[in-house]
Amino acid sequence: MKTAQIRQKFLDFYASKGHTIEPSASLIPHNDKTLLFVNAGMVPFKDVFSGVEKRSYSRAVSCQRCVRAGGKHNDLENVGYTARHHTFFEMLGNFSFGDYFKREAIQYAWEFLTVELGLPKEKLWVSVFEEDDEAEDIWVNEIGFPRNRISRCGAKDNFWQMGDTGPCGPSSEIFYDHGEDIAGGPPGHADEDGDRYIEIWNLVFTQYDKQEDGYLKPLDAPCVDTGMGLERLAAVLQHKNNNYDTDGFKSLTKAIVELTQEDSSIKQDNASVRVIADHIRSTAFMIVDGVIPSNEGRGYVLRRIIRRAIRHGHKIGINKVFFYRLAPVLTLELKDAYPELKKNLANVEKVLKREEQRFVQTLNQGMGVLAEAIAKLKGHEIDGKTVFKLYDTYGFPADLTADAAREQDLTIDMTGFEIEMTKQRERARQAGDFKTLQKGVDIGEQTQFLGYEQLENSSEVIALIKAGELVQQIEAGEQAIVVLASSSFYAESGGQVGDCGTLSNPATLFTVTRTQKQKTGAFEHHGVLNNGILKVGVVLVAAVDKKSRKRIARNHSATHLLHAALRTVLGETVTQKGSLVDSEKLRFDFTRDEVITKSDLEKIEGMVNRKILGNTKVHTAVSDIDTAKKNGAMALFGEKYGDKVRVLTMGKDDFSVELCGGTHVKQLGDIGLFRITSEGGVSAGIRRIEAVTGYSAYQFDNQTQDHLHQIAQMTKSSSTQVVQKVAQLLDHQKTLEKQLASFQKQFASNQGDDLVSQVQNVNGVPVLTSVVSGVNGKDLRDIADKLKDKLGTAVIVLAAVSGEKVSLVAGVTKDLTDTYQAGKILNHVAQQVGGKGGGRPDMAQGGGTDSSKIDQALASVRSLI
Ligand code: ALA
Repeated sequence: MKTAQIRQKFLDFYASKGHTIEPSASLIPHNDKTLLFVNAGMVPFKDVFSGVEKRSYSRAVSCQRCVRAGGKHNDLENVGYTARHHTFFEMLGNFSFGDYFKREAIQYAWEFLTVELGLPKEKLWVSVFEEDDEAEDIWVNEIGFPRNRISRCGAKDNFWQMGDTGPCGPSSEIFYDHGEDIAGGPPGHADEDGDRYIEIWNLVFTQYDKQEDGYLKPLDAPCVDTGMGLERLAAVLQHKNNNYDTDGFKSLTKAIVELTQEDSSIKQDNASVRVIADHIRSTAFMIVDGVIPSNEGRGYVLRRIIRRAIRHGHKIGINKVFFYRLAPVLTLELKDAYPELKKNLANVEKVLKREEQRFVQTLNQGMGVLAEAIAKLKGHEIDGKTVFKLYDTYGFPADLTADAAREQDLTIDMTGFEIEMTKQRERARQAGDFKTLQKGVDIGEQTQFLGYEQLENSSEVIALIKAGELVQQIEAGEQAIVVLASSSFYAESGGQVGDCGTLSNPATLFTVTRTQKQKTGAFEHHGVLNNGILKVGVVLVAAVDKKSRKRIARNHSATHLLHAALRTVLGETVTQKGSLVDSEKLRFDFTRDEVITKSDLEKIEGMVNRKILGNTKVHTAVSDIDTAKKNGAMALFGEKYGDKVRVLTMGKDDFSVELCGGTHVKQLGDIGLFRITSEGGVSAGIRRIEAVTGYSAYQFDNQTQDHLHQIAQMTKSSSTQVVQKVAQLLDHQKTLEKQLASFQKQFASNQGDDLVSQVQNVNGVPVLTSVVSGVNGKDLRDIADKLKDKLGTAVIVLAAVSGEKVSLVAGVTKDLTDTYQAGKILNHVAQQVGGKGGGRPDMAQGGGTDSSKIDQALASVRSLI
């Protein structure tokens, strides 16, 4: 029976039982943020189950397209490696909304399988939830199904839930036995994982609506939700043990094999061929349902699956852009059941082609990087950094790398990968402003900088740049770069950030968020046009944000003072290694091998503040570089200087003399206050100081004061006495800790004495096993040692329990170690509580993670003696 016939038979059968046929809904769950994709036939009916939505009918039947990739039910990894996993499959399902329940659900299913499809009864097997006597009774007494072919299973197998929340309940599953030739046992048996008994139908007796807090809220009326994988059923009816061998996949796998012309060894049953056949189904339908490849959410699942398919294509020697060519083949196969596929075919092809063209550019290079990493690999795990590099530079989703690694029996370090991802997110966050960064086009002109003297000027627009291209005009709402003939805006350089502000005339307003300098000297004002239309040639008023500029100036001048103070206090070996000055703070990196003592740091901070209070004028002079150096100016690392340099002098007796193009305060008193907020090493021989000035320094002090008050309040003292008080408390704590330790010791030793009475004689050997309360693992050992001394001859096993954790100690007196070894005994016990351990023949230690089994495990020691 062909797949299409089975689909139709199912719908017709349930229609004849009063069910309304519902067409398959989109793969994108409607109004449901908890799911990425529709992963079961019941999802479109979720609100009907919970009673939120009412329909005109209480019975429905559907054949629903489903995707299980990403989220709770995720089969992506298994595709290609098993006979019956798919990222995309069709689920046949019948649903009762408060209408019929277990009895009819089971009866209908039985009738459909055995009468309608004519499956032999003896080939079927059934499972029910372990607590569900009612379902088992119906199977045995009403259907006449042999009890010895029913398995009772736990919640893992027979309690179905859609996601972390939503409709759920116990279930009964129907299995088909593919025959003795195939390995595997019935459900609930140790060998159930084999391919012999395959679940074909899941009948869920939906009784609850699981809430966010985990509460199983009973539904007003119990419902039924069943799901049968169409591909699996087709395999059964076509006598195939592998879904990919059924008619529904034939045309696809054939087309894929044809694409690999060069390699005649690739047949339709090749694993990569199957992966590709599966992946064209899921990706085509995702695109039909509106998903486009991206780096987030559904779009990323789509991208991952497409790229995975493309890698498999290359693996089997397809060397051209190929994946989109399978879309028409799929459409031909499924157009009757899913007319939307045909309607959207052109778009599906376009999206797939574009994504493949993008990825093939980096695929080979990435595979090279991976091969290199594997060649160098010591263990069996590819490190997170490599996985991240493949992701970040070559567009390899982590699961694609995992898939490639698996082919060589390797795994990937997912944790390491996640760490790298987190770091990258952090970098992206810090660079938040730069997201809007526009690429400049060097226009080869110079902007005249007027910003030392004035904060406002008018100038002609000499160029406009939008999305990396020179344009003649920009419109409201657009991000762009404005280049002016002259500007009061400082363009980022020498560690000082560029200015922000506005460019305007009565008809237009452009907000500047950053100012950068081009190589040849044009200033780029980056920002957005708020209103109007801006054209090249127009004259604008360039107005720097004064507040921000003032803060920057305070921080920049303070940086010079800090530099000079560092050299005065720590010596001339201190040289600047880098600095950053913005409106919030200043950061200064310098060479220094040793740590800076607290008193030196105080001296440095004090010195800068004294210079501020000195309130001398800041001098600026322009001279040639040699004169400047002769006058003691410090030329900065790596900085290139032109013929003319600007020399900044600050403080009495030329305290600081530096070459600098930045903007500064007029008088040192303008800085207000200087506070060091942190000091520490950044790399070998380099230290960093961060500091704040002006109102920010005042706020910093305020906060420190506030903390002090809080500590004083908590310790019931006052700001002046708080230090003494905390010292007292710490002292007191030490005394208490000592007392506690001594009490614990005493307690443990008493415990040991009490235990002697529990010794039992087992076949002539004194055996003592006990759970000791109130002690830790180390105490256990002391107790066991003591008991050995006291008893002279004995086998001792002691346990301490804390929550689910168990600590274990085994001791055997020397006279018995020829016969009984502590290490072996301990291992015997530890294994029973989910752990392990070992040690010498006379003393061994270990632990486990399942304290519920401890009594039983201890009791089992006797059987060893
Ligand atoms: N919703 C049930 C399942 O997906 C029937 O297995």
